Amino acid sequence: MKTTKVLFVCLGNICRSPAAEGVMKKLIEGLPFEVASAGTAGYHVGDLPDSRMRVLAGKRGYHLVSRARQFDPAQDFEKYDLIVAMDGSNLHDLKTMDRRHQYGHKLSLMTDYCRVRNEKEVPDPYYGGPEGFDRVLDILEDACAGLLHELQNAKS
Ligand code: 4NP
Repeated sequence: MKTTKVLFVCLGNICRSPAAEGVMKKLIEGLPFEVASAGTAGYHVGDLPDSRMRVLAGKRGYHLVSRARQFDPAQDFEKYDLIVAMDGSNLHDLKTMDRRHQYGHKLSLMTDYCRVRNEKEVPDPYYGGPEGFDRVLDILEDACAGLLHELQNAKS
């Protein structure tokens, strides 16, 4: 069976999208799905996820070890089956990079997969306190469970 490839995208690729990658990786163990993450901006390329996120994710059993990279429109639109933005601004930036409007069908917003919480986006926690990071993880756990459900339905 073909592996479905999912890319999570936020701004810096050090807080939200690497956390989404970590949460989802744990859920898809042994399943034909592959996940990765990227940022629309390049400020933190090569960095580990933000230490605040690593600590709080670690407490929930997610080991975040990815290195930040910038979204590459020349490769990533083709490579991934599903590209999931963390907020409306990330989604807008992805749409702008899709110059020929070829990949709109692959784009979605993370919170669209939430089944318990009613959220409009995964808020950027970078300039706030630790509660913002925990809130991001709460949203991501809900959204990743919903996303897995959708991916499995799509396969069957
Ligand atoms: P992220 O958070 O998009 O969830 O990785 C941010 C990380 C860094 C910055 C902004 C947001 N920054 O401005 O450096």
